[in-house]
Amino acid sequence: MEVIEKIALMQEVSEKWRGDGNIISLVPTMGFLHQGHIELLRVGRQKGDRLIMSIFVNPIQFGPQEDYETYPRDAEGDLNKARSAGVDAVFMPTVKEMYPDGFQSTVRVEEITKYLCGKSRPGHFDGVTTVVAKLFSTTKPHLAIFGQKDYQQLVVIKRMVRDLNMDTGIIGVPTVREADGLAISSRNSYLSPEERSSALSLKKGLGLAKAMVAEGEKDPVKIKNAVRELILSHPFTEIDYITICDPEKLADIEIIDGPCLLALAVRVGKARLIDNAIVREN
Ligand code: PAF
Repeated sequence: MEVIEKIALMQEVSEKWRGDGNIISLVPTMGFLHQGHIELLRVGRQKGDRLIMSIFVNPIQFGPQEDYETYPRDAEGDLNKARSAGVDAVFMPTVKEMYPDGFQSTVRVEEITKYLCGKSRPGHFDGVTTVVAKLFSTTKPHLAIFGQKDYQQLVVIKRMVRDLNMDTGIIGVPTVREADGLAISSRNSYLSPEERSSALSLKKGLGLAKAMVAEGEKDPVKIKNAVRELILSHPFTEIDYITICDPEKLADIEIIDGPCLLALAVRVGKARLIDNAIVREN
């Protein structure tokens, strides 16, 4: 497995692999790999001939009060896991390599970044799309694999790729969960045992919403209120948002009469956790 820090070398390696007729898959990560990432790598390995994983904690997608400095990091453990998952190259640039002095460009997707996490994390998606565009032009992937846990991120990246005619196919992979339903996330490492059990309220909330829709409830406000009440009945929880929206446009819906997504973000202690589910398919 190659570990590459420089953009120019990564481009050269990818160009050579492409020239030899290989399909390149990319799994972009911020490291501290867990089972969710391992699943993305499994899909990437299966779909491509050469698998690249990037590890880069991207400073420009964190707000000033967010956890950039304390975001969990474990480079050595990540490299071991990448090796076991059959990664061919890890692209692991420094911040200076990605954002040298004078850097001043931003890739922005306008409309769908205004909702959900875009509301409470201003500038976050500009940071994501800018770094993902740079990762694409560096690793030149035919395919890139993202988790559906970050549902909005996946929709935003698909939009960017379509709008900018990028020739990378985007694959979304279902959320990997612990046995008790908690969506796996690097930020789960912030949870104390008591907070972890409160964090299960996110999945319970999604289950409640699905059950209400299945029983015929069409009013998103009633469903959101019930989910809010359920989550707040657990200690340490503070709701950032609960949204019922169109799964593609991400705008709130007034009545449930077609496909819809319930997405939520909840602070549990120090951790800001997100989760989502399609509560009605069609
Ligand atoms: O989902 C993530 O880990 C990050 O947002 C990504 C896509 C690697 C960009 O920094």
